[in-house]
Amino acid sequence: MKGIKILGTGHYLPERIATNDDFSKIVDTSDEWITSRTGIKERRIASGEPVWYMGVNAARDALLDAQLDASEIDLILHTSVTPDFYTPSMACMVQRDIGAKNAIGIDVNCACSGFVYALDIAAKYLQDDQYKNILIVSSEKLSKITDYSDRGTCVLFGDAAAACIITKGDGMFFSYLGAQVEDADKLFARTITDDNPFCDDNDQQKYDKFSDSNGQYIYMDGREVYKFAIKAIPKAIKGACDKAGVDVNSIDMIVPHQANVRIMETAAANLGLSIDKFYMNLELYGNTSSASVPLCLDEFIKEGGLKEGMRICVVGFGGGLTYGAAIFDL
Ligand code: COA
Repeated sequence: MKGIKILGTGHYLPERIATNDDFSKIVDTSDEWITSRTGIKERRIASGEPVWYMGVNAARDALLDAQLDASEIDLILHTSVTPDFYTPSMACMVQRDIGAKNAIGIDVNCACSGFVYALDIAAKYLQDDQYKNILIVSSEKLSKITDYSDRGTCVLFGDAAAACIITKGDGMFFSYLGAQVEDADKLFARTITDDNPFCDDNDQQKYDKFSDSNGQYIYMDGREVYKFAIKAIPKAIKGACDKAGVDVNSIDMIVPHQANVRIMETAAANLGLSIDKFYMNLELYGNTSSASVPLCLDEFIKEGGLKEGMRICVVGFGGGLTYGAAIFDL
């Protein structure tokens, strides 16, 4: 498969910062517990700005970075677990506001693996000459679905948007995607349940084994998701490397989904790699679902870390339970 080239990246971060100490005022927790168990120190919380607005700002930042006009974008892939609407799609909203008059837009929901899945879709669309420049926007407002009375989950999540524009490149691109769907009920957030005069809650509960998670809030079995993640990350990275016919040691930088520093340390040990190869910024932003990988990429690139010829691996895991990695040379 032909490779990809990153033309530009961007981000949007809400201004409001919520520290661990702020959380200790609303639930029974402490900075010490959160830092030692997760590595997170603070996260951003949106102040009313919609998901599409955050995505539009990240997209504009990426267009500026790529020095492209929005009319040069052929495809927009938008990833989110917290879209503002059932319809129109977030991709259409971004397309409208950046003025991408020649693009089409598709929403992708693969939870925290969303960016990796979107990158894989983008790499495949690039094989069609009709699609030259592809914009991926990952915009997440986890605060919308976070239960701020549940200390086991509320301290983990943050809001952010990030974007990345890619085109065809000369290097290689290989991916390995999967899902442990039998454990879908270990991490979920519901849509609003049916609300009509002919259907009551009991009718709906016949159809699945998902517990009543207090409406649309995130439900997570933390320990099970942890066990899943420490296996899924090495499996995806090794899977992508095997397809590419390269050794994991040949990767210059791994950009993982930012969920928990202990997950990354264990995954690194399982792969026999130094933790220094894993890019991390979760200390400042927490888990921002699909936005976390492109947010890291943007930061890594803007601080001058990304060099031509480097071998990069992006890896994600999350609701579904989905997982995936993509390896590419710049
Ligand atoms: N502050 C203080 N104590 C807390 C707490 C908090 N914020 N959250 C949970 N606890 C308590 C629990 O109630 C439990 O107390 P108990 O022993 O009295 O019952 C104790 O800490 C241990 O809970 P446990 O869930 O076993 O903690 P843990 O070490 O597994 O850490 C997570 C919890 C959520 C940090 C960890 O399981 C994790 O990171 N899981 C994966 C989450 C993830 O990556 N999700 C996103 C996937 S995209």
